[in-house]
Amino acid sequence: MHSDCERILFSEEQIRARVAEVASEVDKRYVGKTPLCVGILKGGIIFYSDFIRHLTSPVELDFMAVSSYGGGAVSSGKLKIRKDLDKDVKGRDVIIIEDIIDSGFTLANLKRLLLERGANSVLIVTLLNKKGRRSYDISPDFNCFDIENEFVIGYGLDYNERYRSLPYIGVLKRSVYEK
Ligand code: PRP
Repeated sequence: MHSDCERILFSEEQIRARVAEVASEVDKRYVGKTPLCVGILKGGIIFYSDFIRHLTSPVELDFMAVSSYGGGAVSSGKLKIRKDLDKDVKGRDVIIIEDIIDSGFTLANLKRLLLERGANSVLIVTLLNKKGRRSYDISPDFNCFDIENEFVIGYGLDYNERYRSLPYIGVLKRSVYEK
């Protein structure tokens, strides 16, 4: 375990098993369809690449980068798009694949945006859900793990851009971000 990690929340094996389980459930919804898998950079990227490899339907891949400046409970800000999709979502069945839902600001706005652009359907799949932190009326359609309000790192998740490549999900030591 990394020395900045207080403890491991989910091991590589636990993540692998749960991602496969959730992906196979999602897969059943897309028989005969070609969903557009939208990954949200950067945190969601490791989950995304593992998740899509369990889908048996043909898929198309695309990515967005958005800001979460408005992610606080009192925010009424608009979602800031730093990198937009290449594809037109009109008429498409979209699967948004995201690492974490916290306040819900990002996913509530993203879902609304993609529906406004004419997506036929938008399904939200998350790796982690901080249920207790929700300020916006949105829930993932599928989620791998519920977590408490802890500072999590690894498997795509960062602190100041570090730790994304850890293969497990861990809790960051307070001493790292409080110093
Ligand atoms: C994280 C995460 C979501 C958002 C969730 O992104 O990937 O996009 O925050 O928070 P919310 O539910 O309160 O909107 P972050 O800004 O950390 O960017 P990153 O994915 O590039 O690390």
